[in-house]
Amino acid sequence: MKRPSVLAPSAAPGGRRMLVAGLVAALSLGIAVAGTTGAKAAGSAPVASSSPAPPPGTTLGTAAARSGRYFGTAISASKLGDSAYTTIAGREFDMVTPENEMKLDATEPRQGQFVFTAADRIFDWAVQNGKRVRGHTLVWHAAEPSWLQSLTGSALRQAMIDHINGVMSHYKGKIYAWDVVNEAFSDSTGGRRDSNWQRTGDDWIEVAFRTARAADPAAKLCYNDYNIENWSWAKTQGVYDMVKDFTSRGVPIDCVGFQAHFSSLTPYSADFRTTLQNFAALGVDVQITELDIQGAPATTYANVVNDCLAVPRCAGITVWGVRDPDSWRSMDTPLLFDGNGGKKPAYTA
Ligand code: GLA
Repeated sequence: MKRPSVLAPSAAPGGRRMLVAGLVAALSLGIAVAGTTGAKAAGSAPVASSSPAPPPGTTLGTAAARSGRYFGTAISASKLGDSAYTTIAGREFDMVTPENEMKLDATEPRQGQFVFTAADRIFDWAVQNGKRVRGHTLVWHAAEPSWLQSLTGSALRQAMIDHINGVMSHYKGKIYAWDVVNEAFSDSTGGRRDSNWQRTGDDWIEVAFRTARAADPAAKLCYNDYNIENWSWAKTQGVYDMVKDFTSRGVPIDCVGFQAHFSSLTPYSADFRTTLQNFAALGVDVQITELDIQGAPATTYANVVNDCLAVPRCAGITVWGVRDPDSWRSMDTPLLFDGNGGKKPAYTA
């Protein structure tokens, strides 16, 4: 099978200046930033003492913190009893995204009855280990519980608003950023994806964002999608036009999440940096939210990291799982740690 295309890293003139700019930007946004010694960010919850603290600057999280950024991972509640898993996750990452536990079917399995058992397990583990949390996700066409699939029109619209309020009030003031809407655009046309949400009217996304802002003004509000990394793709342009429209009309949006699930079918392209720059120029943060790369080529991982470092408003990177067998696409061995917890070449790159 064809490997994901690996492109030569483009030169990063003024890389250090960019790092400093990123640090300054983070500071001006009030983001806790660890010092150049790699010390833990102030104000975070105490770090669990089960394993000895690594020397400064030797983990993904501390390396990212040196430029005011974070390095996160998806966490699955079902794996929190696996000490090999929690040892790596606890040591390496400073941001956590629940892989499935905050999705709609998990948090509101019956209309109006909210369940946070699994989501809270992850949230509590993250905070107890000094990590921040990305909320994922409030409104998505997948992972819909059956009660919701039978709703249409104004009943569905109201259910969306009630869901956002119910989940965000539970975590009010405690979430770094929410993926308010996930994957609302069509892969081919650059327009909206057909979905039950879309059939409630074109304004559903902005209603979701306005509802989210009122529910928790402290959380950054993100639009999150896949196949929007390549600047030349129609889908990228469609999302860009929406964000441009939102920022020009004052619809509250703070960030765009680029899932970055790269494979031979949807390979990394060197213009990802251009995409990040262009979105950031609209006045939003950009975040790489679900990174995994088929075969985990070291050069491609390094390219993605350098793309983020080159854009001051690229706040951080999240990989979509800890070890290869933890991945939703484990056959692709797309992550930074192998099944034995060993660091792969991409880790060091
Ligand atoms: C999308 C979603 C994620 C996850 C992956 C597959 O990228 O945003 O939550 O479901 O698909 O694991």
